Amino acid sequence: MRLEKYLVNCGLGSRRVIIEEVKNGNITVNGEIVYDERIDIEKEDVILYREKFLKEKELKYYALYKTSGYITAMKDDNRPTVVELLPSWFPKESFFPIGRLDRDTEGLLIFTNDGDLNQKMTQPKSKVEKTYLVELFFSIKDEDIKKLELGVEINGHKCLPAKVEKVNEQAILLTIVEGKFHQVKRMMRSINNKVKYLKRMTFGKMELGNLKEGELMEILLEDLI
Ligand code: URA
Repeated sequence: MRLEKYLVNCGLGSRRVIIEEVKNGNITVNGEIVYDERIDIEKEDVILYREKFLKEKELKYYALYKTSGYITAMKDDNRPTVVELLPSWFPKESFFPIGRLDRDTEGLLIFTNDGDLNQKMTQPKSKVEKTYLVELFFSIKDEDIKKLELGVEINGHKCLPAKVEKVNEQAILLTIVEGKFHQVKRMMRSINNKVKYLKRMTFGKMELGNLKEGELMEILLEDLI
């Protein structure tokens, strides 16, 4: 494992903080100061930070069925957040949601303490698919579906091609690999339609499945990517 990843897993701080700590000579590997966070370390290596042992935290993953009415944030002074949906035992301080769902969007929201995964799952280049059930105010035409499949433009940004499955005249299953602000709503606006109801059904390999509204379930990394 790379030293940098190990230090992230120990909760030493963001990558920027870690690069700084290493540069300042605060990390030793088997008694030697190291100045390059990209080096590989082995299980038996002794890593000290300012002469103290570090403990790798256990990485965990949870799936929540978010209901409407909650913003995706761990703290907000005025509005109810998804934290209100989490059970009291949940260690809120060290966990965060991967990506965001709008306040009025329902469905699958992943929580983790794995900083690396956040990046992996949200970067468009990683091509992690998310499928939404999109109910619309107006009927969707075949030509609109073609436009979505080719990649519509939202505020000057050309979206990557989407997968579309028609559910009925006013509902589709839309699969995308990007996660721009209000992406689905803006994509629907670009084809002169409007979202009535939005629910995330899948994220990576994980499906909403039999989760009940407001329910939280521990999952494995392999369930996600
Ligand atoms: N796209 C949106 O417009 N809203 C969401 O909550 C998720 C995707």
